[in-house]
Amino acid sequence: MLVVPGPRSPLLAERLARELGCPTVPVEDKRFPDGEVYVRVSKPVKGEDVVVVQTTWPNDALITLLLLEDAVRRLGPRTVSVVVPYFAYARQDRVFHEGESVSAEAMLALLAARADRVVSVDMHRPATLKTVGVDTLNVSAVPAIAEHFRARQPHVVLAPDKNALDRAQLAANILGAEVDHLVKKRVAPDVVDIQPHELDVAHKRVLIIDDIISTGGTMVRATQELKRQGAKTVSAACTHGLFAPGALDKLHAAGLEQIVATDTIEGPASAVTVAAEVAKALKGRV
Ligand code: R5P
Repeated sequence: MLVVPGPRSPLLAERLARELGCPTVPVEDKRFPDGEVYVRVSKPVKGEDVVVVQTTWPNDALITLLLLEDAVRRLGPRTVSVVVPYFAYARQDRVFHEGESVSAEAMLALLAARADRVVSVDMHRPATLKTVGVDTLNVSAVPAIAEHFRARQPHVVLAPDKNALDRAQLAANILGAEVDHLVKKRVAPDVVDIQPHELDVAHKRVLIIDDIISTGGTMVRATQELKRQGAKTVSAACTHGLFAPGALDKLHAAGLEQIVATDTIEGPASAVTVAAEVAKALKGRV
């Protein structure tokens, strides 16, 4: 097996190769003067099971991954597995308004066209993966995130909404904590109240788990309300830390004890790696 590290996921690719006990293949990546992407896989991969690792955010990273897949295919590997740690465009997973694209399915179809297998991590709606004809896998980052918080022993794990309860439930089971979800209620035309569905958080250490933090708005509002209700500490964790400009500052200012993301997007908050979970999933398939 060989790992091809995409330029947006170098750390995770190295960690994954270590977990799989296999080498990485050097990749040359540059831009033409007009901004077009150039990639070259600079070692032979003929007859090998090749794992290409690249998050598809921002947009150029998607083009880079498509070109890497094509480059690898042309070198005659046995199989190509594409690990897309953060699958961008996954949130538009249905037609919300007539005339829209289902971007999650459109992007997946592009990636699957040159792959034998597509692996992602905490895909926004895992059912999207069933829309292509190749082997697909959705890996959960929650066990790794929960382990990170084990020493802190949160009393309560909260999901930001009811739909995300499964993820919070899994973390709560691992941590032996209570679980609940937040409910958003519009109390005035311009005021949204956000609070736990059932649990009293007073004097408790609370961990909120989401799949994505983007602007940080959801976490900031939840943190402010939980603190108002007397929570002892509030920490925020997500799988994919997109952190739009200013988001981390806003989150720190809200008084969060910890802000933790994984290495599906490599950044300053990526304190948890998903390498072991992805390696485990691949070992059972390739
Ligand atoms: C929404 O569907 C996602 O699960 C996250 O809750 C959302 O992307 C968080 O966004 P923000 O950080 O901008 O509030």
